[in-house]
Amino acid sequence: MDEKRRQLLTGISLAGAGVLFNACRTNSSGGATNDEKTEPAPGEVAPVEVTAAEDLMREHGILRRALLVYREAAIRLRQDPGSIPPDTLEKAANLFRVFGEDYHEKKIEEVFVFPIVKKSPGAPAMYVDVLLAQHERGREITDYVLSLTREDRIPSNSVEPLARALESMVRMYEHHAAIEDTVVFPVWKAAVGEAELDALAARFEEIESEHFGGDGFDTALKRMEEIETSLGLSNLEMFTAPEPPK
Ligand SMILES: [Fe+2]
Ligand SMILES: [Fe+2]
Repeated sequence: MDEKRRQLLTGISLAGAGVLFNACRTNSSGGATNDEKTEPAPGEVAPVEVTAAEDLMREHGILRRALLVYREAAIRLRQDPGSIPPDTLEKAANLFRVFGEDYHEKKIEEVFVFPIVKKSPGAPAMYVDVLLAQHERGREITDYVLSLTREDRIPSNSVEPLARALESMVRMYEHHAAIEDTVVFPVWKAAVGEAELDALAARFEEIESEHFGGDGFDTALKRMEEIETSLGLSNLEMFTAPEPPK
């Protein structure tokens, strides 16, 4: 089955993302014009401004949620491999591929953010090569996860290697996104300047719209919620830590 067909069948895709397109954009710069603005329907959240840096950080939020699914999946795979439907894990990996790797990394970070940070003095420039290598390693791991979740059952001799690969992706990306959020994006923001950032926010929205045929963030968020629900991970309360020893 070719990649496009797999993406269409397993959820988010270039074409599939558009199916869930939200008519009302949530970004000020690329959002609805005054003529197009409509009042939010009951229960809907009113559009809010999203800056370029905030846009990147909330994309990390989606990817972190995919990684939380990976972490839970690794635990459950070891306990009972049958408790993780391969197609659900495939949906999470596809979301990471289409939203994280093909859009957030390839079309935004590697084009607009890293080249500027690379020219900045000091430690942030040194991070860029490592971050690029981690993007590559992430893509290899996603390929591996997709290759094992194609069939109805994960081969028994692949359960432990898959669990380890998922955990290694979680560990790498937790550090990766934390450095981007706290060091790389602030350096980029300072180097670019406020006026250019506004223009970039609009440009990011255009690219997002071209890539997904609609609002990629909203689509990815919906897809993520479906994945969490199907694995019984949608109740935040279940993750409240127990009381510490007294
Ligand atoms: Fe990155
Ligand atoms: Fe990132």
